Amino acid sequence: MKKVLVAYVSRTGKTEAMANYIAEGLRIRGQDVDVKKIAAIESEKGITGYDGYVFGCPTYHKDITSGMKHFLFKAEKANLTGKIGGAFGSHTHSGESAPMIFDTMQHVFKMDMTNLGPLNLTEAMVDSGEGMKACQDYGKALGEKLGA
Ligand SMILES: Cc1cc2nc3c(=O)[nH]c(=O)nc-3n(C[C@H](O)[C@H](O)[C@H](O)COP(=O)(O)O)c2cc1C
Repeated sequence: MKKVLVAYVSRTGKTEAMANYIAEGLRIRGQDVDVKKIAAIESEKGITGYDGYVFGCPTYHKDITSGMKHFLFKAEKANLTGKIGGAFGSHTHSGESAPMIFDTMQHVFKMDMTNLGPLNLTEAMVDSGEGMKACQDYGKALGEKLGA
C-alpha cells in the first residue's frame, strides 16, 4: 500500500468533490490516501513523505488561485522529483488551472506524471455521474501506476 496526498483548493465545492472522487478511486486500488485543503498544510513538512501527489485547483480569471501559487512554492521545497503525480480542477469555460499545475509538477518538480494528463472538468460535468466516474477512473489509474 502506497501513501498518496490529494491536496486541493475549492471555493464552491466543485474541485473538492473531484478530490473526494479521485481519493475513492485510489482507495479502490488499495492505496492509503490523505485528502487535504491546501490551507491546512502549513509548510513543506506537511507535503513530504508520500509516494504520490494529486493537486487540484479551480480556474478563476484564467489562472490558478494565489493560495495554490503559494502552495506550489512549498511543494518545491518538499523535493518531489520522481514521485508519481496528477492534477485536476473544475471550471466553466477556459480551464487553465489543471494543465498549469500538471505542467509545473512535470517540468519544474520533475515528477513521474500520469500519461492521462490533467483531469480538467467543467462544473456541469462534475455534478453529473459521468464526472464522478471520470474522477474515480483517474484515481484508479494513479493507484495502478503507484503499484502495490
Ligand atoms: C469570478 C469568477 C471568475 C472565473 N473565471 C473563470 C475562468 O477564467 N475560466 C473558467 O473556466 N472558469 C472560471 N470561473 C468558473 C469556476 O472555475 C467554476 O465555477 C469552478 O467550478 C469553481 O470551482 P470550485 O467550486 O472548486 O471553486 C470563474 C468563476 C468566478 C466566480
